[in-house]
Amino acid sequence: MYSEKVMDHFNHPRNVGEMENPSGVGTVGNAKCGDIMRMYLDIDEREVIRDVKFKTFGCGAAVATSSMATELVKGKTVREALQVTNKAVMEALDGLPPVKVHCSLLAEEAIHAALWDYAQKRHIVIEGLEAPVNDIAEKEKNEEY
Ligand code: FES
Repeated sequence: MYSEKVMDHFNHPRNVGEMENPSGVGTVGNAKCGDIMRMYLDIDEREVIRDVKFKTFGCGAAVATSSMATELVKGKTVREALQVTNKAVMEALDGLPPVKVHCSLLAEEAIHAALWDYAQKRHIVIEGLEAPVNDIAEKEKNEEY
């Protein structure tokens, strides 16, 4: 049912933890399954993501997708990080069962929420970045995945 990569990231999640004084932090949840995700970003003056940490109270797919998402955004600029969609994360994990697609959305939204927090703190606008949603279940309903 799950790819080897999903199992690997679930069993050995990368970048788990918290961060003191992050450049941006975002928390999102899905009211339907009750899962919650928090993402911390450390961003330098060139707008490069130096470090990422995440914590999740979520299912195995949420752990695996967040872990992969942190790997994909680390070292990228904030604008490049915006391109790390849930589809990109799923591809990097060699796919997810359809019923688990919403879990990857949680990871994407948590990164966006952390980037939003960073932009607010620095008083900058990141083109293409929308205000975070706290409950991604609503967004899920309105879009096709
Ligand atoms: Fe909700 Fe996976 S079941 S995040």
